[in-house]
Amino acid sequence: MIEQKEDTNGLMFENLDPDTLLSKNENSSSPDTIISTNNLTLGFGQKTVLSNINLSVQKGTITALIGPSGSGKTTFLRSLNRMNDGIKGYRQTGDVLFNSESIWASNIDLLALRRKVGMLFQRANPFPMSIEQNVVAGVKAHRIAKKPQLKQIARMRLEEVGLWHAVEGRLHDSPFRLSGGQQQLLCLARALAIGPDVLLLDEPTSALDPTSIQAVEQLIMNLSPAITFIVVTHNLAQARRISHNTAFFFQGQLKEYGPTRKIFEDASQPETQQYVSGRMG
Ligand SMILES: Nc1ncnc2c1ncn2[C@@H]1O[C@H](COP(=O)(O)OP(=O)(O)OP(=O)(O)O)[C@@H](O)[C@H]1O
Ligand SMILES: [Mg+2]
Repeated sequence: MIEQKEDTNGLMFENLDPDTLLSKNENSSSPDTIISTNNLTLGFGQKTVLSNINLSVQKGTITALIGPSGSGKTTFLRSLNRMNDGIKGYRQTGDVLFNSESIWASNIDLLALRRKVGMLFQRANPFPMSIEQNVVAGVKAHRIAKKPQLKQIARMRLEEVGLWHAVEGRLHDSPFRLSGGQQQLLCLARALAIGPDVLLLDEPTSALDPTSIQAVEQLIMNLSPAITFIVVTHNLAQARRISHNTAFFFQGQLKEYGPTRKIFEDASQPETQQYVSGRMG
């Protein structure tokens, strides 16, 4: 049996009815909005980390979250699929809506939410099981497919992320001998295998070499618009290359949010201009 695990792939490993869907209601601000935050303020204990964040992400887009270290990007990203909930001292006001419904609504199944809103972390975190088993770990945990289909699913997802030829002869080997870039692609294959609508990526390429960075970026662009991506990055060139919209976080506030080209070429706020021009760390 797989032990119950939090904070690995944004999943908790236990039974889930795969047909559990998050129902929509009619309060949506726009029919194309998939995730939005409504005056989201949060912190830990006395410390306020994010203040009054209002951000609306359109379905099928790639959104970059940028800003100096400590500005709250990771904390914000983690709030979108309730990854902060279990942290001691966490407090929050305001709301996050997924498909127009509060992610804290009493009828929300947390596992179903995390199946729909998946997450990939900065450092690749393969599980201590074979390469093949890694890809289908979430599929098995969520009982999305039957056993005879698992091999085929693993192959399909490995092909999708461009890893198949590198690993087809060692599907039963440990993932820990793969390169860092390959391990990150493996984690991406695992995240994709459970069919997310949204993927939250926290600096997914910061530990990778240029070739692997290019592979991950290309994949993100290929998977859009079927999947909506929200990507934290310190790599400003990457934000420009891959994102439609960019949100600039500064000292726990969403300073500016808009089309990526506008943020980089014609920002309204002086702090944004300083940051995107490299004059602020
Ligand atoms: N569990 C926690 N308890 C207390 N403070 C926290 C906790 N998690 C984050 N913080 C604080 O929240 C602030 C924002 O942190 P966060 O990791 O979200 O920043 P970031 O923008 O992702 O930074 P970086 O670019 O360095 O990754 C920091 O001051 C951090 O110390
Ligand atoms: Mg961070």
